Amino acid sequence: MTQTSTRAERAISTGRAERVVTAGSDLIGRTPLYELTRTGSGSRLLLKLEQFNPTGSCKVRMAREMILAAERSGALKPGGHIVEPTSGNTGCGIALVAIERGYRFTAVVDQHASRDKLRAMQAMGVHLLYVEGTGGGPSTVERRKVAQRIANDTGAFWPDQHYNPNNNAGYAGLASELLDDLDGDLDYLVGAVGTGGTLCGTVKELRRLGSQAVSIGVEPKGSIIFGGPAGSYWQTGAGAPGGFTVGTNVDHTLIDEGLTVADIDAFTAARVVAKRTGLLIGGTAGAAIHVALKRLALVEPNSTMVVLVCDAGEKYLDTLYNDDWLRERHLLNEAAHQRLNRLFTAYQESIRLAAASNARRRA
Ligand SMILES: Cc1ncc(COP(=O)(O)O)c(C=O)c1O
Repeated sequence: MTQTSTRAERAISTGRAERVVTAGSDLIGRTPLYELTRTGSGSRLLLKLEQFNPTGSCKVRMAREMILAAERSGALKPGGHIVEPTSGNTGCGIALVAIERGYRFTAVVDQHASRDKLRAMQAMGVHLLYVEGTGGGPSTVERRKVAQRIANDTGAFWPDQHYNPNNNAGYAGLASELLDDLDGDLDYLVGAVGTGGTLCGTVKELRRLGSQAVSIGVEPKGSIIFGGPAGSYWQTGAGAPGGFTVGTNVDHTLIDEGLTVADIDAFTAARVVAKRTGLLIGGTAGAAIHVALKRLALVEPNSTMVVLVCDAGEKYLDTLYNDDWLRERHLLNEAAHQRLNRLFTAYQESIRLAAASNARRRA
């Protein structure tokens, strides 16, 4: 083969194709499954690590889907302007796709969002429009009103992630990845719920593909999606505050069980996972893992439970991974850490006991 041979010729001669992408969005999907723990009865808890998507979260899947669908329908014209309220992850996803496809993007945000998500959007050239929240909580209601007004006044495209069916449709790939990567069906899928897109979109496609998985939705304590009383919470991305009208993308027919998790338990779980695995995950993933770890002991033997990890812990170094930030909010709780560590230890012990009993039976 001469120096001047083309890449195609070289690929044929070596039998290997190069794996090089030319767009950030080509990196979306095919995220790994990681076994966090298992039990002596053969059940395992797997994490679908969506932080391995570009922008560090699952939401880039739906950002791409909403934008491509808007191009197809004509709602978004070449060189157009997108406006969307976001706690950060949707915004980062839209920012990436907007850069690739030549759109201007205004993100309507508040100070409740993680500073690192806001900084990431700024780094990608997004125009951030701040809206005041009430009572220190997320300003989900106000942010939507501002986005709607801008869309009405300027003709900007407002994807409206709480009602846009292409949010949920963006997770079809996630569902097929789960079934492709597992040897058979999963039995439980646990995920945090905000707009509903991640969990309901994944479950809808799983069911279409014949999965029998039980779905468990998790929201912060104080969020009103599953009918609990309103209160304040510090988990960001998931949940809906009091006064918010929950959008149609939360499809209750696709959520078998809805549970709330307090900030202390969500953040403790994330921190314990970081210390035990070296993988940093976000607070809403912590909430889902808290639920899954408690449930794993109760499920039928040989179950496969999957937790959707929505985003990376690196986005929360100033908050849930910062002892001072937690202390100021009375969220640093040694007893909760110990309780969770005891669960991990109990699972390890159950494996040891099962192995010993198997060995005795064989002897
Ligand atoms: C960190 C995090 N967790 C959970 C969710 C909830 O996902 P969904 O809106 O798809 O229900 C979001 C949504 O933005 C998020 O950013």
